[in-house]
Amino acid sequence: MSDRLFIFDTTLRDGEQVPGCQLNTVEKIQVAKALEMLGVDVIEAGFPVSSPGDFKSVVEISKAVTWPTICALTRAVEKDIEVAAEALKFAKRGRIHTGIGTSDYHIRYKFNSNQDEILERAIAATKYAKKYAEDIEFYCEDAGRTSNEYLARVVEAVIKAGATVVNIPDTTGYCMPDEYGAKIKYLMEHVDGIQNAIISTHCHNDLGMATANTVQGVLNGARQVEVTINGIGERAGNTSLEEIAMIFKSHKEREIVTNINTSKIYGISRMVSSLMNMPVQPNKAIVGRNAFAHSSGIHQDGVLKNVQTYEIIDPKDVGIDDNAIVLTARSGRAALKNRLHVLGVELDQEKLDKAYEEFLKLADRKKDINDDDVLMLVGKDRTATHR
Ligand code: KIV
Ligand code: ZN
Repeated sequence: MSDRLFIFDTTLRDGEQVPGCQLNTVEKIQVAKALEMLGVDVIEAGFPVSSPGDFKSVVEISKAVTWPTICALTRAVEKDIEVAAEALKFAKRGRIHTGIGTSDYHIRYKFNSNQDEILERAIAATKYAKKYAEDIEFYCEDAGRTSNEYLARVVEAVIKAGATVVNIPDTTGYCMPDEYGAKIKYLMEHVDGIQNAIISTHCHNDLGMATANTVQGVLNGARQVEVTINGIGERAGNTSLEEIAMIFKSHKEREIVTNINTSKIYGISRMVSSLMNMPVQPNKAIVGRNAFAHSSGIHQDGVLKNVQTYEIIDPKDVGIDDNAIVLTARSGRAALKNRLHVLGVELDQEKLDKAYEEFLKLADRKKDINDDDVLMLVGKDRTATHR
């Protein structure tokens, strides 16, 4: 029996905090509706007390979206919680996401406080939020650098106070995957009442380990993951939704299933990138321009014989029409022949050899060989072919 993994998308909150990525309410509604079509379980729509614009966006997204839970972020402060509850009043299913820093760095330097006081504030905030909503998520900010013993005390106390989900953020992206996995395992084994809440991962990518840490969290018992489209987010970003969805879809033996309709991934990736003016790096897993592009001769030959030789995901599974055989100076005859075939041109061996010689000369001068170049090599143009 597979276990269900809940997908909590924070593109519109953690993702939108990135300088230059701000969206207006209409654009946020567009993204929220696309997230609903994608099948996410929870949309974190904003931090309502932070600005009138964020408040309005949470209200409008709550009206526009039917199926996913709409979540609003707060600090462990009564005013924040009241404003979040007000912003969520139109949500069919609303969640208040409150919390406080639990690491010594936060307790000493941010709050000038101590562990006992922070524990009391965590309990009070959870109880206060519970007056306004049934579904309460509590985050232990900088949990990645919080001792497991103290973290377990906080998690146990907020579950007792009514939290339905407890978020364990690696806020600074510092944890190693085995360490983050062990942290989740420790909580699963040491917190009384853990079965009454869902443990959530929230990993940042400062050392490039956000996805690995999230996977370790899930394998050790977390059943919600906080992610963003294209992995956007503070500094080096958050765990990317598309990576987690495709990891568990590809590794069926792990028996973890999500509700993500993966064929919608590429479309929403393009939408978020263009609305936020945030290009996707070409070699980004799953959605980068080169994610399914084969350029070396050996790989192209293998893929043309059997696509599984060098491809673990069918591009159509993520909404990309086909894999791309990119013609470069490292491409072989087989790739050129295939491209000509696609363009409606069949050559005998002698003509193919000749065309290949010319192709290599051109490819040495020009980085990307396009279809017009290929046709020109064999003395044809588009009007003379069936494409
Ligand atoms: O990274 C973090 O700790 C956060 C919390 C506010 C959830 O984004
Ligand atoms: Zn974060």
